Amino acid sequence: MNLTAEDYRPSPDPIIEFKNWFEKAKNSMEPEPTAMSLATLDKDSKPRVRVVLCKDFDESGFVFFTNYDSNKAKELEIKPYASLSFHWKTLELQVRAEGKVQKTSRQESESYFDSRPRESQIGAWASSQSRVLNTRKDLLDKYKEYESKFDKKKIVCPPFWGGYRVIPDYFEFWIGMPGRLHNRFQYMKDKKMGWVLTRLYP
Ligand SMILES: Cc1cc2nc3c(=O)[nH]c(=O)nc-3n(C[C@H](O)[C@H](O)[C@H](O)COP(=O)(O)O)c2cc1C
Repeated sequence: MNLTAEDYRPSPDPIIEFKNWFEKAKNSMEPEPTAMSLATLDKDSKPRVRVVLCKDFDESGFVFFTNYDSNKAKELEIKPYASLSFHWKTLELQVRAEGKVQKTSRQESESYFDSRPRESQIGAWASSQSRVLNTRKDLLDKYKEYESKFDKKKIVCPPFWGGYRVIPDYFEFWIGMPGRLHNRFQYMKDKKMGWVLTRLYP
């Protein structure tokens, strides 16, 4: 897959195209290949963006995990739609996607939580993500509290923690090219025609 070839032909299926790019990024020197910027809208339709890690991708969408009481979770509760973007700087690639957002099943959240290091599991219990923290000591104390509470026991997934899946209905792929003649193409999901691929001026 030579993405910078002038005659590069993207797959008609953006899922296949993204899988190929994601693999390429994961096998590259990119420091955080799974990091994606995730934009949501707050209750006043003000856009809000932050970075989360994409822990899974397949035909059903992009999965990330978070705190269900966080600001992003509250925003998704009101408007379950998100826009996301990956930027792989060393490869000069960007991918954007948009779509409806759904919570992952409890089983999926728990199975991912179980795979996490113990410190991260305790951290999830100790953090009331996006709420005001008076002192850093308060957080460290909460961490210690849960550490002794779960002492050598299995740490269960907190009820307020789990995943979301962004189910894409739009993709845009961007390949940096010389002379700013970048290669851009988008896929829009049409109810009758399926994915419609078009090129865009850079
Ligand atoms: C590289 C990187 C990866 C991150 N990954 C996650 C993640 O997977 N889940 C998460 O909840 N927050 C993650 N964060 C923190 C979020 O960017 C954000 O600060 C936090 O989720 C609170 O956002 P909110 O107040 O909009 O809900 C990450 C931050 C960085 C810089």
